[in-house]
Amino acid sequence: MDSGAEVIVVRHAGPLRGEVTVPGAKNSVLKLMAATLLTDGVTTLTNVPDIADVAIMGDLLAAIGVGWDWHPTDRGTLVLTNGGQITPVAPYELVERIRASINVLGPLLTRCGTVTLSLPGGDDFGSRPIDMHLAGLEAMGATFELRKGDVVARAERLHGANITFEFPSVGATENILTAAVFAKGTTVIDNAAREPEISDLCNYLVAMGADIEGGGSSTLVIHGVERDSLRPVTHEVVPDRIQAATYIAAAAVTGGEVVVINARPEHMEMPLRRFAEMGLTITPQTNGIAVWAPERMRSIDFATLPYPGIATDYKPLIVTMLSIASGVGIVTENLYPGRFRYVEELLRLGADISTDGHHAVVRGVAQLSGAPVRAPDIRAGAALVIAGLAAEGETVISGVDHIDRGYDDLVGRLARLGADISRR
Ligand code: UD1
Repeated sequence: MDSGAEVIVVRHAGPLRGEVTVPGAKNSVLKLMAATLLTDGVTTLTNVPDIADVAIMGDLLAAIGVGWDWHPTDRGTLVLTNGGQITPVAPYELVERIRASINVLGPLLTRCGTVTLSLPGGDDFGSRPIDMHLAGLEAMGATFELRKGDVVARAERLHGANITFEFPSVGATENILTAAVFAKGTTVIDNAAREPEISDLCNYLVAMGADIEGGGSSTLVIHGVERDSLRPVTHEVVPDRIQAATYIAAAAVTGGEVVVINARPEHMEMPLRRFAEMGLTITPQTNGIAVWAPERMRSIDFATLPYPGIATDYKPLIVTMLSIASGVGIVTENLYPGRFRYVEELLRLGADISTDGHHAVVRGVAQLSGAPVRAPDIRAGAALVIAGLAAEGETVISGVDHIDRGYDDLVGRLARLGADISRR
């Protein structure tokens, strides 16, 4: 069945207990896939999550000329074959489905000298311009023309430049980084994004033969290399910190005790610190994070910020946790104005939340109650599932196709922890 027509049914259950393993990060694997455009040959990615966006990115790469062969049950292995026959055109039907499609811009432009790209889509949470991507590439010698909704980019050979971002944009950092790999001379990106997924991309590119210093810091220095000096590699995708937080939230709202295997505490320092303030006991382990939740959490105030701050992607999960915590929490969204849309759905479950522009005031209630709700995007969809775990009665979540874009078997993983949850 088309997952757009499916629903997830969650009933209130007791505390979740047990172990859950976190797969690779959506926001890393899609970028690694795009970066395979830089080199001919066979690339193998492992720990690839079994999510719909990987298939969409695979189809986009196939349209450009890279074959993909995916074995989700074999350590999440994805084999990408770049035979060198690249058509640098990213068609609208695929680009409009995921934001990460914009990540083919840097690799294609630096490799082919031209790209035709439709303006990207993805989660529908407010306006998501790409002006910083274009300004950075322009500083490196690219020219752009807008033609019937497509951006046509050209640059015979990009050159190094000093680029200072006004804001540490994840996507713009990735596009400039990949474009700079073959640029003539040195590119310096200041105020670069520092997300663990960007470090993963840097590590991958360096293993391929790129010359990059400062991965994971706010200054990236990329010395351009010749186009034939890269070779394909095998790379394991970094674990998904947002999926990890989802299982922590599941333990939290049920008063449970869960070990999140493969979660990397060093990638989640700020959210873990805030979860501890809410009353969770968080114990980093060699292979993950152990979480023990109290009967009732305490509220906190928080604001979303670029890494290492609290990522905007955690916010629906934390708002859900606050909705049943004791006290009042004030939440400030600094990245996307539209990212409070799911609040209306939480209200349907009995949450007490008021929003005003970039702010939400969450007054914890003693109990949520089940109702039909609709997932508006990936993370908010997961948060509604988590809310359903804590709600009295039955919660039916539609819009499951959004959840499938970013979650690898959310229902199965929660069921194995003891949740009363199914898909219909
Ligand atoms: C990525 C993640 C997304 C996450 C976000 C912030 C992927 C596929 N998506 O999105 O899940 O929520 O990082 O952690 O990895 N902006 C501009 N001009 C630009 C670029 C960005 O104004 O040229 C604005 C955006 O509209 C937004 C903010 O900057 O308000 C953050 O964008 P950015 O960091 O680029 O996020 P994405 O790469 O789109």
